[in-house]
Amino acid sequence: MILLDGKVASASVKEKLKTEVAKIIANHLRPPHLAAILVGNNGASETYVASKVKNCKEVGFESTLIRFETSVTEETLLEKIDKLNNDENIDGILVQLPLPKHIQEANIIQAIHPDKDVDGFHPINAGKLVQGLPTIIPATPYGIMLLLEYYHISTKGKHAVVIGRSNIVGRPMSILLSSNLLYGNCTVTLCHSHTANIKEICLQADILVAAIGKPEFIKSDMVKPNAIVLDVGITRVDDVTTQKGFKLKGDVHFDEVSKKVSAITPVPGGVGLMTIAGLLKNTLEAYQKKLAR
Ligand code: GUN
Repeated sequence: MILLDGKVASASVKEKLKTEVAKIIANHLRPPHLAAILVGNNGASETYVASKVKNCKEVGFESTLIRFETSVTEETLLEKIDKLNNDENIDGILVQLPLPKHIQEANIIQAIHPDKDVDGFHPINAGKLVQGLPTIIPATPYGIMLLLEYYHISTKGKHAVVIGRSNIVGRPMSILLSSNLLYGNCTVTLCHSHTANIKEICLQADILVAAIGKPEFIKSDMVKPNAIVLDVGITRVDDVTTQKGFKLKGDVHFDEVSKKVSAITPVPGGVGLMTIAGLLKNTLEAYQKKLAR
């Protein structure tokens, strides 16, 4: 069994990014600059955004964290996004999701200029992905593709089962794996909350991507021997024995499933770290595209 180590694979991506930044600085240009918007104080979102900011610094990017209270209005957020869209010194904008219920996420996502949309959530970027056109790929599916590439996992002709149809992970993942790409060309089944016989479908997967958000949902009796398992889940589960009072659990029952498969990502230390690598790559690509204009 190969442990698909997000730490090692993301470090390799980050080394290449550092080299690119060094070249940019040698040319007397400013480094790429990411603006991250965080609304409220959801613990998990705080952690993710802090990690994004820290990783920008590690590769030599600038970053700006913009915080708003939970009570912020949609109008205020839209005004801020408009300013960032028009700011020559900002290359990438991300708004950490989820947002409070009174804000329409779709309005916020659509307000970000598609060229600065480093999450790849704007309908223009999502539409280009569907049509196989060059675009910004959402960070988690992008990170998974980078992980497959790092470990040279052949995907051509394989049956990939993706569980979860979110715009952030499941849907774009299903598009990428079915696309005519070096680490694509799979036959893809996309499962969701209304899928009947989910166990039988999972048992047919050569590659299983679990993005359900239900801790340890995938048990060993749902997995084909020697399958490749990519676990996107990262749920905080109460655990009084830990200092923080919780443990992070994936969507896959790792102890059971890891005994049966040929490769699997750990949680934490797997897909989450690759998501950051994908975001950083998107930010550099947005910067380079702007330079070329
Ligand atoms: N919330 C969960 N995943 C993501 C992500 O990739 N980007 C943003 N902006 N919010 C998220």
